[in-house]
Amino acid sequence: MRAIAVSEYGATPAPMNLPRPEPGPGEILVKMIAAGLNPLDWKVADGMLKDSVDASFPLILGQDGAGVVDAVGEDVTRLRHGEQVYGTFAMPERGLGAFAEYALARDDGPVARMPEGMIYTQAAAVPTASVAALAMVEEARVDAGQTVLVVGATGGVGQGVVQLAAREGAKVIATARDDMAGTMRRLGADETVDHSEGDLNAQVLAVHNDGIDAVIDTVGDTPETEVIAQLLRPGGTYVSSVWSVNPDAMEAMGLRGINFDTDPSAELLDRLSDLIDAGDFQVRAEREIPLEDAPGALADNRAGGARGKTVIRI
Ligand SMILES: NC(=O)c1ccc[n+]([C@@H]2O[C@H](COP(=O)([O-])OP(=O)(O)OC[C@H]3O[C@@H](n4cnc5c(N)ncnc54)[C@H](OP(=O)(O)O)[C@@H]3O)[C@@H](O)[C@H]2O)c1
Repeated sequence: MRAIAVSEYGATPAPMNLPRPEPGPGEILVKMIAAGLNPLDWKVADGMLKDSVDASFPLILGQDGAGVVDAVGEDVTRLRHGEQVYGTFAMPERGLGAFAEYALARDDGPVARMPEGMIYTQAAAVPTASVAALAMVEEARVDAGQTVLVVGATGGVGQGVVQLAAREGAKVIATARDDMAGTMRRLGADETVDHSEGDLNAQVLAVHNDGIDAVIDTVGDTPETEVIAQLLRPGGTYVSSVWSVNPDAMEAMGLRGINFDTDPSAELLDRLSDLIDAGDFQVRAEREIPLEDAPGALADNRAGGARGKTVIRI
């Protein structure tokens, strides 16, 4: 089968012909129709997670995807042959991932039936980023009446955070360059601040001079985080998806600091499916590319400035 893989950590991702996997007990084989690209994919290829993730090579890249259940192993009880599913498919210890014609998933793993009426290329853009958004908003304990700054709001995770925090009734301030400000407002942001136009804190304080309640950040490094945290009122919360928070330092400032680590599950995907089916959550696939172009798209995402989600047609 065709797949995009690396021969070792740090190698350039490339198209390869690799054996089609067979589902073992408790596993499903999915014929992939679309895959979604995340920063995690190039981080895995670069070996940035090698101390925490076991991998075998060649390693097929890709977490997210959507497709049709093609075969089921023994003891599979939840998902059935022919069902449309979406979720996260990476099994790095077996060299398997979503950027391939076929992928495996565990029947009790982070794969769920696709939202009704959603096409494969949209569904593939959902899992990693939107599951993270849902869980980060919950960890931040975002509540009605609070003011929340979303840093990285225009990215895959950030667009989900903006929608879900607004849905909780919070006042949402989204970082966005000028050309994305309208999109952020349509997704539920009350205000935008432009991170390319000078001091972020000054822009926020100009409107909220008594501070804000929470920051959900998918971008900042630790020095930036320490500066942005000065916006928080006592008792405020800072959640980072890039592990930029020093929780002890935050506690000493009377704040709650959380480094978020995703734990995707079928339950979280089902909750997203319900929101999507109800018209309460949307994911925008900005760019659709063929499988062969995935190496270039990974390089673009690593270089930054890749707006919204890139989806791969398989
Ligand atoms: N810990 C976890 O479990 C977990 C889970 C999911 C994701 N993540 C991580 O979270 C990060 C974001 O993921 P993603 O999928 O949302 O990435 P993405 O889609 O590539 O989005 C990144 C966004 O950040 C914006 N940005 C860049 N610099 C900025 C700045 N200084 N201030 C404000 N916004 C800025 C970019 O907009 P412009 O181009 O306009 O600047 C872009 O829209 C990645 O590092 C990913 O690996 C972690």
